[in-house]
Amino acid sequence: MSFDFDRVIPRDGTDSIKHDGRAGYFGTPDVLPLWVADMDFAVPEAITQALLARAAHPIYGYSRYPEAVFESLISWMGQRHDWRIERDWILPAPGVVPSLHAAVLAFAAAGEGVIVQPPVYYPFFSAVTGTGRQLLENPLMLRDGHYQIDFEQLESCAVHANARLLLLCSPHNPVGRVWTREELARLLDIAERHDLVVLSDEIHHDLIYPGRRHQVLAALTDNPARVVTAVAPSKTFNIPGLGLSALIVPDPARREALSKAFDLLHAGNYNPFSSAAFAAGYRNGAAWLDALMTYLAETRDFVTEFCRQNLPGIRVVEPEGTYLLWLDCRALCVQRNWDDAAMKRFFVEKARVGMNPGTVFGAGGSGFMRMNIGAPRSVIETALRRIASA
Ligand SMILES: Cc1ncc(COP(=O)(O)O)c(C=O)c1O
Repeated sequence: MSFDFDRVIPRDGTDSIKHDGRAGYFGTPDVLPLWVADMDFAVPEAITQALLARAAHPIYGYSRYPEAVFESLISWMGQRHDWRIERDWILPAPGVVPSLHAAVLAFAAAGEGVIVQPPVYYPFFSAVTGTGRQLLENPLMLRDGHYQIDFEQLESCAVHANARLLLLCSPHNPVGRVWTREELARLLDIAERHDLVVLSDEIHHDLIYPGRRHQVLAALTDNPARVVTAVAPSKTFNIPGLGLSALIVPDPARREALSKAFDLLHAGNYNPFSSAAFAAGYRNGAAWLDALMTYLAETRDFVTEFCRQNLPGIRVVEPEGTYLLWLDCRALCVQRNWDDAAMKRFFVEKARVGMNPGTVFGAGGSGFMRMNIGAPRSVIETALRRIASA
């Protein structure tokens, strides 16, 4: 089977945030959009067919989740992640960010502590601060170009009298780490000794580069009761606009608490199109995904080599997973005497490339940019050439 990831599909005028939202975010529509985390590739054909088939029935009424949603996820987790889950553990959810919020509401009372590990996807902060919980930060450590968890500092956060919940990003957006079994076992041990619930956001867990393996945190233990796993086909198959995700919650009391948090806002997402795409992706998307990862790995290597040869002030932090590259531009900033605002101006106004400034990911983000390589290689190459000539 072959898939055409080189095909450029114009998205202007589709109300895509990444494309049509450029002027609002960057102050100009004239940037190549390598920011919001979706991809400029056509989804697996099976998903399009499932959506067309559902659309052919002309009534789109209130719907329940079909069994196919549960069955397809159980089978995907077993086959791709070697984790046997039970149907009762699955709680469909309108998205992973809503799930972060629900977990914070369910497992930490107002004023209680929630641990996050910056630099990290920015809703991890707002889920805590926006709900009146206390943010406990355990910044990742950058050692020899490689990010690591600071386990000593994590232990200090966990012994904090108020600490209740840890929000884990696995794989980690934006630094691209795929945490190892050893790292996850250490983290789980700390959670167990200090009675923390762990919300493990594994939305990127299918986007793993050759030679790495994603370990589901909950699958590390025979008693996964304290772990809540958030997954979705949205990043995997490029359908985040459709919204549906799932929480996998082995512990009945924790499941109940999360259900209550969603019920409070009546925040279900019983959307017949989301369900159709969800099941079609998990049932029939494996070959597309494998081809996608081969393509992304080649793009990653291309960007890394291009920077090495042509952009000495920019270093790609080698990602182990995700289509998000974390560019270390600190040397460039030192050479040019730039602060973060000047660096952002350079990329937007001079290079005309729209990336996320590292500072939005919190502590440790200064001097970095996040580049989304989920686009045809010709687009990525144009972006790199623009940066080089600027
Ligand atoms: C780590 C992480 N979690 C969650 C999301 C978004 O999840 P959702 O669209 O299901 O709310 C993203 C999107 O970039 C992400 O990177």
